[in-house]
Amino acid sequence: MDFSIFKNKKVLITGHTGFKGSWLGIWLNHCGAKVIGYALDPQHDKDNYVLAGLTNKIKDYRGDIRNTALLSKVFNEEQPEIVFHLAAQPLVIDSYENPSDTFEINVQGTVNVLEQFRLSSSAHSLIVITTDKVYENKNSGQAYKEDDRLGGADPYSASKAAAEMVTSAYQQSFFSNKQNNKHVYTVRAGNVVGGGDWSANRIVPDCIRAVENNEAIIIRNPKSVRPWQFVLEPLCGYLRLAELIERGKAPDDTAFNFGPSLENCVPVLDIVEKIIKHYGKGSYEIKNNNTALKESALLHLDASRAVNELGWKPVLSLDETIEITTSWYKYYREGNVYDRCLKQIDWYLSKWK
Ligand SMILES: NC(=O)c1ccc[n+]([C@@H]2O[C@H](COP(=O)([O-])OP(=O)(O)OC[C@H]3O[C@@H](n4cnc5c(N)ncnc54)[C@H](O)[C@@H]3O)[C@@H](O)[C@H]2O)c1
Repeated sequence: MDFSIFKNKKVLITGHTGFKGSWLGIWLNHCGAKVIGYALDPQHDKDNYVLAGLTNKIKDYRGDIRNTALLSKVFNEEQPEIVFHLAAQPLVIDSYENPSDTFEINVQGTVNVLEQFRLSSSAHSLIVITTDKVYENKNSGQAYKEDDRLGGADPYSASKAAAEMVTSAYQQSFFSNKQNNKHVYTVRAGNVVGGGDWSANRIVPDCIRAVENNEAIIIRNPKSVRPWQFVLEPLCGYLRLAELIERGKAPDDTAFNFGPSLENCVPVLDIVEKIIKHYGKGSYEIKNNNTALKESALLHLDASRAVNELGWKPVLSLDETIEITTSWYKYYREGNVYDRCLKQIDWYLSKWK
């Protein structure tokens, strides 16, 4: 992968203070891009964004994605060329507690970004980050392809499926005429793991919190199979897509799945056992899931479109995925988190050689 094309490019990341957004900001900053961020404040003082000191390395705007006046000001003042839209309420359980906010942030927030992108004279690429949960889940074990039916049985999944439809409507209504040279894509990945994510109800942060507190890890859905992937894998796919657009080799505006190989689709219990192994300590207890909240039991993405059209593929084994993830949490207290992230990026890129 050669991302030197991003040097001096103005790239706006919404959701840059979050887990995936912070890694994307570090990566693009490393490529020499002029990174602009727009998001709410970080949630935790141990977030990757905070510990990596990214706020001092990029142009950092704090605002709500529903604040159209501020978002418009940022587009007008910064004149971004490439936009990655990650800002979202990203948690299924929170979406049951705050469905209305989830729909507003994830659907209207996406409309707001699309609208600014439409009106912008500088921006020519928009990549909207959704999720593997946008598919109508038949629990059949099938691998979902981009043209499969969208759905979503919980507010989060439905809000992201709606964000897909909104994006598709903008694509067809405003950007299908290539003369305006605007490219819009949606990208779908799921169960992303990596350093600096402290979100509640995600398995890796839950494990790390328990291990750091010398408590047993509580597992509620040990048999739920998920497509685990290291954060840099889907980010590499998003960057590859943006790179091809910059090189004038953009594929047709569409959706792309960036899922891991089948080998990385394993039950939660296997992940917990690997985290304990790589961290070097920890124990777990299995407790029956007594929640009535629905979450899809089995999800797997077919990434062959990304493989064939973008030359992207998942390159890490499951063991590498969990080892590199766990190592961030093992060593973040020792400082130099930004450099540590860069080393992980270089190590990841070496897998492509
Ligand atoms: N982490 C995963 O496993 C995963 C899987 C599939 C899809 N995604 C998607 O990737 C994106 C990033 O997820 P993440 O895991 O980094 O989440 P995160 O919670 O770590 O980060 C979310 C980001 O969005 C911002 N944000 C939230 N509400 C906002 C609002 N109202 N206005 C402005 N900014 C707001 C936050 O400030 C933060 O910067 C999301 O769109 C999410 O749906 C994540």
